[in-house]
Amino acid sequence: MTKSISSARADFPILNQLVNDHPLVYLDNAATAQKPRSVIDSLVHYYEFDNANIHRGNHTLAIRATEAHEAARSTIAGFINAQYAHEIVFTRGTTESINLVAYSFGEAFVKAGDEIIVTELEHHSNYVPWFLLCKRKGATFRVVPFDQDGELDLEVFKSMLSEKTRLVAVNHVSNSLGTVNPISEIIQLAHQAGVPVLVDAAQSVQHLDHDVQALDADFYAFSGHKIYGPTGVGVLYGKEKWLEEMPPFLSGGEMIENVTCDKVTFNTLPFKFEAGTPDVSGPIGLAAAIDYLIQFDPAELKDYETDLLNYGLELLSDIPDLTIYGNPKHRSSILPFNVAGIQHYDMGVLLDNYGIAVRTGQHCTQPVMDALGITGTVRASLALYNTREDIDALVNGIKRVQRLFRRKS
Ligand SMILES: Cc1ncc(COP(=O)(O)O)c(C=O)c1O
Repeated sequence: MTKSISSARADFPILNQLVNDHPLVYLDNAATAQKPRSVIDSLVHYYEFDNANIHRGNHTLAIRATEAHEAARSTIAGFINAQYAHEIVFTRGTTESINLVAYSFGEAFVKAGDEIIVTELEHHSNYVPWFLLCKRKGATFRVVPFDQDGELDLEVFKSMLSEKTRLVAVNHVSNSLGTVNPISEIIQLAHQAGVPVLVDAAQSVQHLDHDVQALDADFYAFSGHKIYGPTGVGVLYGKEKWLEEMPPFLSGGEMIENVTCDKVTFNTLPFKFEAGTPDVSGPIGLAAAIDYLIQFDPAELKDYETDLLNYGLELLSDIPDLTIYGNPKHRSSILPFNVAGIQHYDMGVLLDNYGIAVRTGQHCTQPVMDALGITGTVRASLALYNTREDIDALVNGIKRVQRLFRRKS
């Protein structure tokens, strides 16, 4: 029996509160999603009963903590259909996952004259590490532009792929426009040219298909906190063949096999990439989040979230003087807009007065804002516990702010 989506909201205790005397309407899910009770309980249970360092001790708590941590790795491997659990490396988040690849893959495979391709739609996390790698190595940093609808220009992408290209780094869903990029096609095109692909799945893994083998992604990165799990834990999936050939990123305890004065050898995967005491509880909480999410029927969830997004787009487009950014064929869970005459920052602060949480600004995508010729947007972003009533509250809030500004002018 799958869980009904209408029952989801009650599972998130934080949603049941007043903010500035109004019921909280949480629409900042692309920044971070709220956590269901089961995730919070899993963390409390870990600290109340099992807390210990892992892979080191031989006492009961150390064994329990290690087993729970490694069981979480298997849950996550199963969720994204990795072939092996050791292809899952725990990190602090998407940012660290991408930095790991930019450093380690860069050390092993990128040299002067090579090229790295990213897109203009990337979050700075999937842009700056590659920019810096190219600077370090004397490689060329190439950026695929997007068009007025917020879609990547695949013709330009194809023309950029060459024997010099070492890697393509692209998001599945843009965090500022919500564009769903044709990730399978991009991977296929890159692979035809013999080029591996890193997928930034920070905004897609919680909403869309996430089968890394079906996608044939070489690397796949996401953050626990955007998929209803805790902050401080992220995932890097890498195909075994790449991870084996890449040198470690951080070094220290646990990532080694043997250490002498003149030689250091490394541990097996994934531990080669997990130096030092990790966030033991983070993966346990993330596995609890995945156990929560997989109770829902994925097709039903997708339909629900699509319906909610379309409802939002329809209502927002009826508001006078409101511009919605991008018009991609496929959009996921992001409503980016501005209202004429009202700064995005002011709109965010005033909506908060009505208990409505949105994000404002550049959303760590300055190249997107520059291409649109704006300083930022208001971004409402959706999660499975949002409802049509939340969208209605947003729309009413925007109209109230508009009235306030009209009275002042
Ligand atoms: C598309 C995308 N990539 C990467 C990141 C960075 O994630 P984190 O800050 O959890 O490392 C974000 C965060 O908003 C994002 O939306």
